[in-house]
Amino acid sequence: MAGEHYPQRPVTLAEVSIPEMERRAADHYALMAERRSVRDISSRPVPRSVIEHLIATAASAPSGANKQPWTFCAISDPELKRRIREAAEAEERESYAHRMNEEWLADLRPIGTDWRKPFLESAPWLIVVMRKAWDLRPDGSRGQTYYSQESVGIATGFLLTAIHQCGLVALTHTPSPMTFLQKLLERPENERAYMLIPVGYPDEGAQVPDIQRYPLERVAAFYESSATTEDNDA
Ligand SMILES: Cc1cc2nc3c(=O)[nH]c(=O)nc-3n(C[C@H](O)[C@H](O)[C@H](O)COP(=O)(O)O)c2cc1C
Repeated sequence: MAGEHYPQRPVTLAEVSIPEMERRAADHYALMAERRSVRDISSRPVPRSVIEHLIATAASAPSGANKQPWTFCAISDPELKRRIREAAEAEERESYAHRMNEEWLADLRPIGTDWRKPFLESAPWLIVVMRKAWDLRPDGSRGQTYYSQESVGIATGFLLTAIHQCGLVALTHTPSPMTFLQKLLERPENERAYMLIPVGYPDEGAQVPDIQRYPLERVAAFYESSATTEDNDA
């Protein structure tokens, strides 16, 4: 009932020893450090049951006031993929020719992208992440969503992690503006296209730019009390 607390239940999380915790943290880092954006995606099929689990993982993400302001549209229909590619390439052609400034184009040059997006047809699945700018209640009235940008960003991170974890590849594609997706997918008026993610196996011989990550010292800043730095049992 509105205004009342949800019933409470205990946290069900098995205790993990510090050595096991260290091992899991290192293993997860090793796994995720292998994730790359892949643009050469094979047409080899991926079962729908896998895609369903990937989406369920994404939808388990935290969200502002648990509003779950997302819809994940999974597309394998070849004709719809063709139309999405056509519309995305039209926007990208315009972006590369007129919308991106010199610095942006220079930053993209080493990555080697251009307006052509063949992966939008070759990938067995496209997942379009939609963000709910506001909630459309079952009775048609409007409700609020909170921090929908942040919430959908986190859910998309969960999705990319799950895709990588099961041995598939993806690309976070953002053909801008993405309004054509709302129209092609006939989404309700409260939904905005957030990300277009082709998912599949890498093409045989697929290559990725050999980029490097910043070292930990550059991306992390620790503020520790001297008492907690060494003694994990304190
Ligand atoms: C928000 C966001 C938007 C992106 N948009 C595109 C895109 O439209 N096309 C593309 O080829 N790559 C896109 N990328 C992929 C980045 O180029 C890629 O993540 C970056 O070069 C690092 O490479 P990695 O993902 O292989 O680690 C995007 C990435 C993010 C996070």
